[in-house]
Amino acid sequence: MISVDPPEHERLRGFVSERFQPGTLREYRPRIEELTEELLDDIEGDDRFDFVDSFAVPLPVIVIAELLGIPSDRRDQFKEWSDALVARSTDGTDIDRIRRERRQAQEEMGRYFAELLEERRGGDGDDLITLAATTEELTQKERVGFCMLLLLAGNITTTNLLTNAIWCLEEEGMMDAVRTGEIDCKKVIEEVLRYRSPIQSLDRIALKDVELNGQQIQAGDVVTGWLGAANRDPELFDDPEEFRPERRPNRHIAFGKGVHYCLGAPLARLEADIALEALLDRFETVEADLTDLQPLSGLYGLESLPCYCEK
Ligand code: HEM
Repeated sequence: MISVDPPEHERLRGFVSERFQPGTLREYRPRIEELTEELLDDIEGDDRFDFVDSFAVPLPVIVIAELLGIPSDRRDQFKEWSDALVARSTDGTDIDRIRRERRQAQEEMGRYFAELLEERRGGDGDDLITLAATTEELTQKERVGFCMLLLLAGNITTTNLLTNAIWCLEEEGMMDAVRTGEIDCKKVIEEVLRYRSPIQSLDRIALKDVELNGQQIQAGDVVTGWLGAANRDPELFDDPEEFRPERRPNRHIAFGKGVHYCLGAPLARLEADIALEALLDRFETVEADLTDLQPLSGLYGLESLPCYCEK
């Protein structure tokens, strides 16, 4: 889906797009709230915890596993696979091991999805695996690829949105104002997406010769679009280097643009809204330690974010 042009693209996306509409996803809200509360229960006893490891990483994995219809007794295995798929070397060492584990996770997961798809063919469940298994639009290989794509595209990106949100709120001293509702949570999420966009750039290959802003681009050239820079364009945003949740309009392109516009954008927004509100509702004090931030490589986010919460 993510790497093909229309009309092929429509065939691969069309069968599922309805399921990711905000209206359809609203039905899942109570279940996502429940899953979020369970994670917060685990955090509650700890004085200090890593927001990334304990909350921002597991939440999107658990939610997508639920939507796909992964049996809950396979959750831990599922998380291990998805961690291996997105693992990176921070200092250039261990690259061979990371690659080997990624390949192994891919193969195991591919086999696991293929089995589940087979079992659910002709079933009437409303999970995404059953939907993919019953659609005539896809080949078996495409069905497996679709399940893997949802994992890859949606997890680490949403993790970074959640982490960057806490980072911004701590930095700006806005935690309490969001808790009391003085600052709207949904607007905070849009401003985090603009100000600290999890995906900073996308590549495209030119199909034909074209001139863009005086630059000659030839068919076959790889062009990198910098979403992060566009989202701080002073011609579009007043004081773009300032974090201002109240800005209106906030026409960022953190979810891309055009036919490949993020399929999971409404889900990411819903998860972030539920997660921030639940966290700030549960704890009277939420403080993040910003003294020694380690940036991720590749995506805009943090390796870890030590937090202290109190009821
Ligand atoms: C904050 C979180 C997220 C961000 C910043 C993000 C960002 C993006 C961007 C920039 C694209 C466009 C890629 C391109 O044009 O080449 C994209 C595509 C996509 N995203 Fe997301 N995404 C997020 C969450 C999710 C979630 C939760 C899911 C699904 C569970 C998801 C599934 C997809 C899929 C399937 C595509 C490909 C769509 C297509 O090619 O038609 N994303 N995302």
